[in-house]
Amino acid sequence: MMSAPKNINFKDDKKRSDTSPLGSPPDIPKLMPGGNYIKIGRDSAHSTCLLFAPPAEEVGVLAKYLQIFEKHGVNLLHIESRPSDKMPENYEFMVECAPSGNIGGALYDVKERSEYLKIISRDYKDNKDSVPWFPRRIRDLDRFANQILSYGAELDSDHPGFTDPVYRARRKYFADIAYNYRHGQKLPHVEYTQEETETWGKVFRQLTTLYPTHACKEHNHVFPLLVENCGYREDNIPQLEDISNFLKDCTGFMIRPVAGLLSSRDFLAGLAFRVFHSTQYIRHPSKPFYTPEPDVCHELLGHVPLFADPEFAQFSQEIGLASLGAPDDFIEKLATCFWFTVEFGLCRENGHLKAYGAGLLSSFGELQYSLSDQPEVRPFDPVKTSVQKYPITQYQPLYYVAESFEDSKEKMIKFAATIPRSFGVRYNAYTQSIEVLDSKPQIQRLVNNITAEMSVLVDALKKV
Ligand SMILES: [Fe+2]
Repeated sequence: MMSAPKNINFKDDKKRSDTSPLGSPPDIPKLMPGGNYIKIGRDSAHSTCLLFAPPAEEVGVLAKYLQIFEKHGVNLLHIESRPSDKMPENYEFMVECAPSGNIGGALYDVKERSEYLKIISRDYKDNKDSVPWFPRRIRDLDRFANQILSYGAELDSDHPGFTDPVYRARRKYFADIAYNYRHGQKLPHVEYTQEETETWGKVFRQLTTLYPTHACKEHNHVFPLLVENCGYREDNIPQLEDISNFLKDCTGFMIRPVAGLLSSRDFLAGLAFRVFHSTQYIRHPSKPFYTPEPDVCHELLGHVPLFADPEFAQFSQEIGLASLGAPDDFIEKLATCFWFTVEFGLCRENGHLKAYGAGLLSSFGELQYSLSDQPEVRPFDPVKTSVQKYPITQYQPLYYVAESFEDSKEKMIKFAATIPRSFGVRYNAYTQSIEVLDSKPQIQRLVNNITAEMSVLVDALKKV
């Protein structure tokens, strides 16, 4: 959990007097000039956030709003006021409500007396005006650790390590590391056992014989750099910290350890921030060439090299951005696109098919099979690819082929435009936050910024 900010800046004294009308405000109200600071409440996983603007020039308005919440028995975890992006002369409140009381009644009353009301909620299905919650700041990804669908130490009965108490204890060790990880911390260094390193070595040795002929040129370009910079060797399992630093230098991508299975919505949201959630454990030694779930071989040999490629990194981020606040059916479509590209994608190089999907680049058998004449191949088209059914426990009968990552990215952007959302999103790399674009003044400001940047580029172009 993050701590509350130390600097509390109120816009003016009128709002200062608004802050404690009932004697005991639920939390420290504050205003941050940047306007994107949202505090995490004590029960954030199930809370509902409301953004609303009071009528201009109304005095003592916060007290009236607080009375509404009190009347309906809704407990507040946090309140803040900040400049309104929609109405530049006005300000808005961000209120985080605990799952308590009659929230529906409170929403009705707040809406009645507000210029606008926006609802952000995990339980968004109950309200048609509500947008599914999504992380706005990179630190918000810390919340995912508490929302995993299954803990990494829980193994199915057909898992090769199910009856091995040593392996199970090891899996719990890795899951606990990830569960306790918070943004900004160093990625935990792991001392892998000799047995684990040997398993890695078997997989590494086998796959690297195929890469020169089967992997795409981007993978083959980056792989020697990983050997040189991150300790990719047969006798060494590379550390996530080294890899994350390497990726940051190449494309700004970062790695976070993950304690278990994330929902598609959460996993894709990470990509919007150029954050990849990675496992850190390795498969069971009894079956070095099989794993029923992603492990460190899959992540480091399959995924990591491609995230160092600028075009691929952008393509991945587009899928992530498209997912933010999208309805459930679109999340499924985007996850399917992810499956057929980042996991099992093929691309064409000088007329020949090559593999760039991590599921292929981490499987000796499927990598060869995917480039044989057995499976069917079709051109990547998000409209069609996104609704294609696929098996998860056998080789894919069908692969989609990317003409280039640039081309796939453009197609994803067009596809994202069809998602029913009442706002646009943009990643601000300076603040590592998502800007929600839903007002004209805000978009105008961005256009002005881009115009200024364009003049720098035009000026530079004249000089070369
Ligand atoms: Fe994967």
